[in-house]
Amino acid sequence: VKPEPPKIMISGAPASGKGTQCELITKKYSLVHVAAGDLLRAEIATGSENGERAKEYMEKGQLVPDEIVVMMVKDRLLKPDSKENGWLLDGYPRSLSQATAFKKFGFEPDLFILLEVSEDVLVERVVGRRLDPVTGKIYHLKYSPPENEEIAARLTQRFDDTEEKVKLRLQTHHQNVEAVLSLYENITIKINGNLSKEEVFAQIDSAITNLLEQRKAASGSL
Ligand code: AP5
Repeated sequence: VKPEPPKIMISGAPASGKGTQCELITKKYSLVHVAAGDLLRAEIATGSENGERAKEYMEKGQLVPDEIVVMMVKDRLLKPDSKENGWLLDGYPRSLSQATAFKKFGFEPDLFILLEVSEDVLVERVVGRRLDPVTGKIYHLKYSPPENEEIAARLTQRFDDTEEKVKLRLQTHHQNVEAVLSLYENITIKINGNLSKEEVFAQIDSAITNLLEQRKAASGSL
């Protein structure tokens, strides 16, 4: 019996390295990466009413209302590629109500990865972060500098990546994280996210390998 594809959530404070680790995880495990923040930024780019409303909240570092976020994530996870390959959900759920809605739709994650990073490191990561609009790749001026001048010249910064805004985003994170964690306690793995991106990935990689081995053993014994 072929085991069901894995379903993984990744959570952590702003700039804790979720997107960076998701790049590495999807490269190795071919899961579909679904990032709530990316879905919202794509909606903003369409110029829709929902996008405009979402941006007002994102600029204040607050959670975008459930009626915009919940269906957006649900629809993405129900697409055939996510069902077929498994998913890696980044930045969702961020509140008890989002987690409850998720469960009601019948989604059950196998693993909940929590990246733990100290606050001074988070601020430094936010301020130095840059994005390549062509490839979508995440850079950092100090820790992951661009490979060449051509890429360096086209890098952009996110509208909410200022020291002032990250403080607001952090506040929102602290207000909600415990409630979400309490629901996934038995499948949570806490990762020290202060280390280099390769060292962080090594910890995550071994957790995913364990999960896959357990599932393989379980499906073989059916
Ligand atoms: P979202 O886009 O999800 O932002 P976030 O949670 O603040 O997280 P980031 O994307 O900023 O950081 P990351 O953890 O992915 O870090 P990264 O890998 O880039 O959400 C934005 C907004 O949308 C929210 O504020 C909210 O308003 C709204 N929203 C989103 N989801 C929502 C939801 N479910 N409900 C309601 N509203 C929602 O790394 C950061 C930097 O550090 C990079 O430069 C990177 O190169 C560098 N770096 C990464 N790892 C390392 C390392 N190990 N060592 C050194 N540098 C590193």
